[in-house]
Amino acid sequence: MLQQLESTYQQAAAELDALTDAAALHDWESRYIGKKGAVTLLLRSTGQLPKEDRAAFGQRANAIKELLDTAYAEREKLIQEQALARDLEEGQIDITLPGRAHPTGGLHPSTQTFRELYRIWGDMGFQVYRSRDVETDEMNFTLLNFPEHHPARDMQDTFFTKTEGVILRTHTSPGQIRSMRELGADGAQPVRVILPGMCYRNEQVTARSEMQFHQLEGVVVGKNIRMSDLKGTFVEFARRMFGQEAKVRFRASYFPFTEPSMEVDVECFLCGGQGCRMCKYSGWLEIAGAGMIHPTVLRNGGYDPAVWSGFAFGMGPERQTILKHRIDDIRYFWGNDLRFLEQF
Ligand code: PHE
Repeated sequence: MLQQLESTYQQAAAELDALTDAAALHDWESRYIGKKGAVTLLLRSTGQLPKEDRAAFGQRANAIKELLDTAYAEREKLIQEQALARDLEEGQIDITLPGRAHPTGGLHPSTQTFRELYRIWGDMGFQVYRSRDVETDEMNFTLLNFPEHHPARDMQDTFFTKTEGVILRTHTSPGQIRSMRELGADGAQPVRVILPGMCYRNEQVTARSEMQFHQLEGVVVGKNIRMSDLKGTFVEFARRMFGQEAKVRFRASYFPFTEPSMEVDVECFLCGGQGCRMCKYSGWLEIAGAGMIHPTVLRNGGYDPAVWSGFAFGMGPERQTILKHRIDDIRYFWGNDLRFLEQF
């Protein structure tokens, strides 16, 4: 039996050394050292030997069992390591592959321009006043001194609603009346606000005009507010917006709600006033409509025009963005084309 034990040991050890995969290893284990394995069975039959041989056999069998257990554990570890190395080799991760980009959102160019305008006007003491998009014909026109059936109403083609007298505002100017009435305390308090918002005009959409666009209105009412205040304010604004060298010019114009009325130009920042395609070879770019608030409008806002005066202006942030970035088509603004929007 001892001989049988030794030869089984030799055989088991030799077989184990040749094993390379987990399945064969498992098979080997059950054949030799498992519950019904050859070595286990031999060990268990120690009792059948003559008494005097038992101790020696038992010792040897236990030693062999231990040797094989250890060898088995080592082989198992080796096979596992080899399998892991093989997996890594085959399923290798290419760390040189470019990663997947996660697109991030951004601020719309008009929002960016608005924020810049808020900062500049805010630094100059203006507060933001939010006026409504859906207006009455009375606020949008009548109280701003557009007489009924006056051709000036045709300057701004209007979107009407099914409700008589309710329209989409064609400009932010109705907010002049609303802010004066709300903040002026029945003509007792001064007002200094900007009114940002969307305006709507029933116009043919072209590269130069959209049927919706933003405006930023400004309203200042106080005592002794003069045209020089309007001019100085705009010179200061232009410097902050377009740089210290910016030059401003005022051109006579007409709006029913201001008197006198004017258009405000800045010297073309592309050509420095030399004349180029952007400024249509005039050297100047129009940035706002403005004027001294008409006495009738002051009265409609609750003020006594003999005591109070003020100025107002309206500018188009999209237009300023177009000029700044040399965008050639205003339709890009609300077209939601990411190729355009991602450039800002
Ligand atoms: N509301 C005028 C427009 O839409 C601009 C403007 C505002 C002019 C305030 C004068 C004063 O063209």
